[in-house]
Amino acid sequence: MLRLRWIVRIVIIAALTKVAVAQGNEKHKTVLDGVFTAVQAERGKAAYAAHCSSCHIEDLSGLAAPALKGEQFLDNWREDSLKSLFTFIQTRMPQRAPGSLKPEMYVDILSYILSANTYSSGSTELSADALGSIDLVGKDGPAPIPKFTLITFTGCLARAGDEWKLENASAPVRTRQEKPADGEVKASAEKPLGTGTFRLVYLDSLSPGFLPENHVGHKLHAQGYLLSNEKGEGLSVTWLESVASTCAK
Ligand code: HEC
Repeated sequence: MLRLRWIVRIVIIAALTKVAVAQGNEKHKTVLDGVFTAVQAERGKAAYAAHCSSCHIEDLSGLAAPALKGEQFLDNWREDSLKSLFTFIQTRMPQRAPGSLKPEMYVDILSYILSANTYSSGSTELSADALGSIDLVGKDGPAPIPKFTLITFTGCLARAGDEWKLENASAPVRTRQEKPADGEVKASAEKPLGTGTFRLVYLDSLSPGFLPENHVGHKLHAQGYLLSNEKGEGLSVTWLESVASTCAK
């Protein structure tokens, strides 16, 4: 009897520990962690056949529409939360009737797209609420953000000869627009600075009225296309906005 009680206790402690670990890692879940079920992907396959395959083809290889599997597709959506891909699909697809499906059906279709991209299923269904805390990464796990994609970060404006730079930059994150969305600039104001440096290119395409010489040493919200070459990282700027007139940490 005593033994049984101990076994029960150990099982409970083990279960609680697992829950705590799972909560601690919640932010770092990726599509490699089995984030949908096989049954869900099957449901998604049927919905895909009915609503998507006429343009993207039964095997997702695309034709007139882009492929929904393979390297190019993953490069479009990796190093970002699943929510970005989901939001695109839900608000833009099927192309002739955007938003016309039930949210759960969109989630099922997303599960099917993941399974067709050879990500493994797991024991818990994917839910709309979880999308923001799951990152889409390639088969080898997290990798650098692909070049020429839209990113955003915060940094300190500095001049080096003819060039402008953002120093002490936070780690860039992917974004989907050239201009900040609601709340994005405010979030930058609160974001801690980091250790990156980005050359700024095409400053002339900036919002009228932003003169870099008026913002030297300011903390800026930056948005644009990621460049990368032997000189280091750069940003083809689409938006700069001062979020603090000092860069003191
Ligand atoms: C009438 C044709 C059509 C249908 C039906 C359709 N799509 Fe598309 N889809 C397109 C076209 C064209 C594009 C490229 C243009 C764009 O991005 O808006 C596209 C783009 C996409 C992309 C972005 C691909 C990339 O390369 O990043 C995704 C994801 C997508 N569709 C998913 C879906 C899903 C899921 C469905 C079904 C719910 C669906 N589409 C139904 C025509 C279609």
